[in-house]
Amino acid sequence: MKILFIGDVVGSLGREMVEEYLPQLKEKYKPDCTIVNGENAASGRGITEKIYRQLEGAGADAITMGNHTWDNRELFQFIDQTQNIIRPANYPKGAPGKGIQMIQAGSSEVAVINALGRTFMNPVDDPFPVVKKLVDDAKRHTPFVFVDFHAEATSEKQAMGWHLDGKASAVVGTHTHVQTADNRILPGGTAYLSDVGMTGPYDAVLGMEREAVLKRFVTSLPVRFEVPKSGRTLLSGCIIELERKTGRALSINRILINEDRPFVSN
Ligand SMILES: [Fe+2]
Ligand SMILES: [Fe+2]
Repeated sequence: MKILFIGDVVGSLGREMVEEYLPQLKEKYKPDCTIVNGENAASGRGITEKIYRQLEGAGADAITMGNHTWDNRELFQFIDQTQNIIRPANYPKGAPGKGIQMIQAGSSEVAVINALGRTFMNPVDDPFPVVKKLVDDAKRHTPFVFVDFHAEATSEKQAMGWHLDGKASAVVGTHTHVQTADNRILPGGTAYLSDVGMTGPYDAVLGMEREAVLKRFVTSLPVRFEVPKSGRTLLSGCIIELERKTGRALSINRILINEDRPFVSN
């Protein structure tokens, strides 16, 4: 069982990268299931129905979200009609959408879970018991459980990795938009990576126009950030292989594509 995951797709440049490279990545790695984080897909802020369809059309089987889930209000209109958008599971009860979804992957199913961290982020429910329960429930239906833990602090992400070691098949981080190099398999058999990184503008600051971000840092004055619509781009992802019988991780490799590193996999 192979799972391909692509980190935070930012704006039109990110979507174009997915459309250009996802077919090539599928050709190369032959994943059974492809998951894309789409929390920044609409100009850096949330997702629209059209963009959801665009990412699906490009080959995504499931879209995970993050702290920007509700930035585009259009999502409220369609999230409950779509199967495959998974928003953070630890929003308070009553939030639209769902935090887990079974995704068909050949003759098997992959449980895809999304959750938000709380360290240096807006307050939400404690992700640790919420995710643990979802993983335990999912394991009764499938050995393949994938967790996108959308969090700022590497400490919180590592803690979640250990929390779910031997239970989830994979715990990968998103949100910081910078890929970390700590991909590993934890002793219990859980694939782990602190942050997958982002997909979109390359000569930017976390996907936002660098001039505006610099101006805010230099002047300390309020500046509105926009996503560049042209320029060089990158794609960040990972490919995870799981043992068919047990769902235990066999490998997790990083994918990083930009002009400095054409098609590097580690
Ligand atoms: Fe993001
Ligand atoms: Fe985020």
